[in-house]
Amino acid sequence: MGLVTTTDMFKKAYAGGYAIGAFNVNNMEIVQGITEAAKEVNAPLILQVSAGARKYAKHIYLMKLVEAAIEDTGLPIALHLDHGDGFDVCKSCVDGGFTSVMIDGSKYSFEENIEVTKKVVEYAHAKGVVVEGELGKLAGVEDDVNVADDDAQYTRPEEVQEFVSRTGVDSLAIAIGTSHGAYKFKPGQKPQLRFDILEKISKLLPDFPIVLHGASSVIPEYVEIINANGGHMPDAIGIPEDMLRQAASMAVCKINIDSDLRLAMTAGIRKDLAANPDHFDPRQYLTPGRDNIRDLVKAKITNVLGCDGKA
Ligand code: G3H
Ligand code: 13P
Ligand code: ZN
Repeated sequence: MGLVTTTDMFKKAYAGGYAIGAFNVNNMEIVQGITEAAKEVNAPLILQVSAGARKYAKHIYLMKLVEAAIEDTGLPIALHLDHGDGFDVCKSCVDGGFTSVMIDGSKYSFEENIEVTKKVVEYAHAKGVVVEGELGKLAGVEDDVNVADDDAQYTRPEEVQEFVSRTGVDSLAIAIGTSHGAYKFKPGQKPQLRFDILEKISKLLPDFPIVLHGASSVIPEYVEIINANGGHMPDAIGIPEDMLRQAASMAVCKINIDSDLRLAMTAGIRKDLAANPDHFDPRQYLTPGRDNIRDLVKAKITNVLGCDGKA
């Protein structure tokens, strides 16, 4: 099996009340940790690459790593561009073999967002590639886009039908209170998501797959290990797992996770180097990092996403 699109995955996830994990990748150990976990629990996967990751690792290396993972595991895997910020990067990923792209026009006006999204959809669909659009703004940092908390805006349900019908997107990322990075809520603030908005949107767009960005739980165990071994990440707070389970049981078919992977990898590396100051072979400290990623992804798939056994 080669790379697949997300069409079939989302259809089954919607009907089954679970979600597919979309994990950000930028090197071999991350790809291996994620795909080993998915193989163990027989889960479909979306591996996603940001523009920054593409710049770091180069398109061709990421492409070949993911092809190797498919050959190694036999799993259905979609390769997705995360947060494409314009037509050119989306076109480059479509031409370069990705099976899914996100055009993130959320920083534009409604009309400009429709215009650029429609252009990407026309190009991508002609080549059999699916497209994720975004309406509403998440707070937080992603590559060059840094949305201040005050600028973040929940998705307006009254806009979703027009956006989807005029653009032809295959899935829609929405803003209901999640945000990118490891500091999603202020210390003492009670994590909350606007499930009422998700509910309204799913009624307006029946059977349509919704995407949740900024969905890391910022697992406290990894933050503690990082802080106990020379790191400094006080006040890192993420999305509680029960909220993600609730979203997955509703119209959310794709849940994006990056920060938790970073924490898992860094915790493994920091712990190894702190305990073994003599280690200087990268394989010595990258192995525990990769193992942590495998354990994290397995737990996400089985305890949160519910897509185990669905490959
Ligand atoms: O949504 C953002 C992802 O976590 C990607 O982050 O742009 O730093 O690679 P990045
Ligand atoms: P986190 O920072 O919560 O992992 O979100 C990742 C994401 O949304 C990638 O697009
Ligand atoms: Zn995102």
